[in-house]
Amino acid sequence: MIFDKRGFIFCILFLSFAFIYVNAGDLDYKKVHYIQSTPPLANGNVNYIFRGNEPRENVNGTTIFAYDDLVSFIKQNGQENNITIPDQFYLIDIKLITGPLPSELPDIELEQNFFAQNSNLGEFHTNNTFGDLLDPQWFDEEEQISMAKTLPNWQKDDLQYRMDLYHNILFTERDLPVVLYIHCECGCDRTGEIMASWVMRFQGWNFAQAMEWDYSIAGRKINFANQWATQWYCLYLQYAENRSIDCTPPANW
Ligand SMILES: *[C@@H]1O[C@H](CO)[C@@H](O)[C@H](O)[C@H]1NC(C)=O
Ligand SMILES: *[C@@H]1O[C@H](CO)[C@@H](O)[C@H](O)[C@H]1NC(C)=O
Ligand SMILES: *[C@@H]1O[C@H](CO)[C@@H](O)[C@H](O)[C@H]1NC(C)=O
Ligand SMILES: *[C@@H]1O[C@H](CO)[C@@H](O)[C@H](O)[C@H]1NC(C)=O
Repeated sequence: MIFDKRGFIFCILFLSFAFIYVNAGDLDYKKVHYIQSTPPLANGNVNYIFRGNEPRENVNGTTIFAYDDLVSFIKQNGQENNITIPDQFYLIDIKLITGPLPSELPDIELEQNFFAQNSNLGEFHTNNTFGDLLDPQWFDEEEQISMAKTLPNWQKDDLQYRMDLYHNILFTERDLPVVLYIHCECGCDRTGEIMASWVMRFQGWNFAQAMEWDYSIAGRKINFANQWATQWYCLYLQYAENRSIDCTPPANW
């Protein structure tokens, strides 16, 4: 029955996002975080994955793509993690979008234009990321397990597929080392869902740890729909992949 309502609920969710994502600031060092690097690949390059917020800034009244600051923030945060990011790298910029919403179009255009004019520096893509509208806590254990096991069949954001996609990009060799930069507007909710899923899948974190990390970066809790999607993904890792992972929500959930 719940599934019959999904389209309807999805519309409501979509509208609610329209109000959540309009106010986002410029590129912010507090949101830029090193996540992981590859071992040296066959050609000797190391690739890196980072999370962050919208790489945009205002210079003398003009909004620009904040390339120079982004590069310096990536290097600085790498340094804080004892990682030396090479001087030259290829930036794969993925913006997590919702729709896109009309309010997101100027930033999409900004990023598209930058890479159209500077294709030697990297490339730009968008991926829709909505979150889930079903709270895993609404279901009894048996239902929860059966939904978790079939997650790739119904989850809009298909986090299992998405993790494979980003993992493949990270591990693909290019002429230059790659920095995969995944962001949304705030670097909090959609980015929080994706990167929390990443650390659960590839770094063995529990759900509560991953959420606390998101909260500390966002400076607040993250959007309920993004939390639920991440918790469903945790349950998928537990029940479909037989991982020993704790999917209990954090104490201040
Ligand atoms: C911004 O304006 C100031 C004052 O006119 C000028 O000195 C500066 O070079 C400008 N900055 C850029 C990045 O254009
Ligand atoms: C970086 O290295 C310093 C010195 O060895 C160490 O104290 C620090 O904990 C390291 N930081 C990280 C994030 O690994
Ligand atoms: C997400 O972005 C990648 C490129 O980074 C693209 O190949 C892929 O088709 C996108 N997937 C979806 C579901 O939008
Ligand atoms: C997980 O365990 C179940 C039941 O023991 C088994 O059928 C399934 O193949 C396992 N899945 C994986 C990915 O190991």
